[in-house]
Amino acid sequence: MNILVMHGPNLNLLGKREPDIYGTTTLEEINSRLSALARELGADIAFFQSNHEGELVQKVQDAMGAFQAIVINPGAYTHTSVALRDAIASTGIFAVEVHLSNIYRREEFRQHSYISGVAAGQISGFGPDSYLLGLRAAVQAIKDSSNK
Ligand code: DQA
Repeated sequence: MNILVMHGPNLNLLGKREPDIYGTTTLEEINSRLSALARELGADIAFFQSNHEGELVQKVQDAMGAFQAIVINPGAYTHTSVALRDAIASTGIFAVEVHLSNIYRREEFRQHSYISGVAAGQISGFGPDSYLLGLRAAVQAIKDSSNK
C-alpha cells in the first residue's frame, strides 16, 4: 500500500502562518504524525510539498502507477486550479482532498473547490486531524478495492 501525501502552496509555513486559522502545528509535525499512523495501518507513505502549480500537476502524473492513492491539501489551488483538477481526473488516481480549516465557513471565494468533483471525498475543518482522517480513508478504500 503506497500513499502519497501532497501539500500545496504556503503549507510549508504552517506553524507560523496565520496561527489563528491554521494552528501552530508545523508541516514537519503533521508529516511525522502521518508517518506514525501509516506505520500503524501498514501503509508506506511519501510526502511532497510545492508552491508551484506545475510541480503539483507533474507529481500527480508521476504518482500514476507508483501510488494507489493521494491525500492532497491543494491549498489556494483548491479554488483556482483547473490544471490540478484535470491532472487528477486524467490519471484517475484515487484522491482524498483535505483542508485544515473548514473552507465552507470562510470567505466566499474559498467555498468552491475545483478538486472536490474529481476527489473520492473531502475532509475539511479538523486541523491536522483532517490529514490523519484522510489517510485512514485512503487506506480503507485501498483495502476495500483489493477485497473485491
Ligand atoms: C487550506 C484552505 C485554503 O483556502 C487555503 O488557501 C490554504 C489552506 C486549508 O488547509 O484549510 O492554503 O487548504
